[in-house]
Amino acid sequence: MAFPKEAIELRDAGIKDPILVFDPFEKENALICQKYSLIATVFDKKHIDILKEKNNSANKTKVHIKVDTGMNRLGIDYDKAYEFIKYVSNQKEFLIDGVYTHFAEADSKDKTFTLLQLKRFKELIAKLKSEKIKLGLLHAANSGAMLDLPETYFDMVRCGITLYGYYPSLETSESIKLKPVMSILSNVTTAKKVKPGETISYGRRFKVKNETKIISVPVGYADGYRRGLTNKAQAIIKGKLFNQVGTVTMDRIMFDIGNSNVKIGDKVVLLGNDKKQSVTAWDWAKILDTIPYEITCGIAKRLPRVYE
Ligand SMILES: Cc1ncc(COP(=O)(O)O)c(C=O)c1O
Repeated sequence: MAFPKEAIELRDAGIKDPILVFDPFEKENALICQKYSLIATVFDKKHIDILKEKNNSANKTKVHIKVDTGMNRLGIDYDKAYEFIKYVSNQKEFLIDGVYTHFAEADSKDKTFTLLQLKRFKELIAKLKSEKIKLGLLHAANSGAMLDLPETYFDMVRCGITLYGYYPSLETSESIKLKPVMSILSNVTTAKKVKPGETISYGRRFKVKNETKIISVPVGYADGYRRGLTNKAQAIIKGKLFNQVGTVTMDRIMFDIGNSNVKIGDKVVLLGNDKKQSVTAWDWAKILDTIPYEITCGIAKRLPRVYE
């Protein structure tokens, strides 16, 4: 998990498996990690000091050590990591439960830099192992590496976007067959006939050419249905695709259904499949010039989640 707050949600939902928190270690997290049995990521002596100060249990504190091999975001630099990991291994209150790194461009076709990161990580691990330092679980692979570089697997992989059934980019292989698992479903709440020349929504960015029926759906940009999708996205109703029309508003969007037999209450698939049609996070990402990651994690909390 990125943050302890998210891990608490999982614990509250009854998840008992080990949870690793990626967030750099701050004081307020120490007690949360203890209370909820979360494993902290550490990469600085100050993280160890905080944990020592706050730990009031007799058990050893499990930590994973993050090594920066080239992402330059979080972790101890690979050329300083040997000393740090040795230092942690000598702390009797601590158990090194894992050592990991993160790749900057494993989803690119060109794997040169990923292989350099891997080399840096492997050399470090070999040096530590030669001194019999216990390192716990070694991990590095994100989705791109999981698809294309089995040599990065070590003891486990940390895949994110592939869990949603999406490839991380258009450049990886499809060595594992995926299909999207998240849908955004809503219903038709209003329907009206609109005459030629009339315009739809704020800014009047859609003009009706021929008389048509316009329906509205109670989802808007406050839910993560981004305003940039205006006049460009589609949704599926009864297995047929319809165009979104008029500016996406905060709480509502409109679709042009022509003279189709769509009724109030009918299911609207904003994202997902219905019969032979599909709307994917890639469709939205292309319109919005972004990646599926930003779509899947941009769906607001206001939309209730249903897990099947
Ligand atoms: C530390 C770390 N590990 C794993 C992942 C998962 O990456 P992906 O979604 O590309 O599989 C992320 C995502 O950003 C990450 O920050």
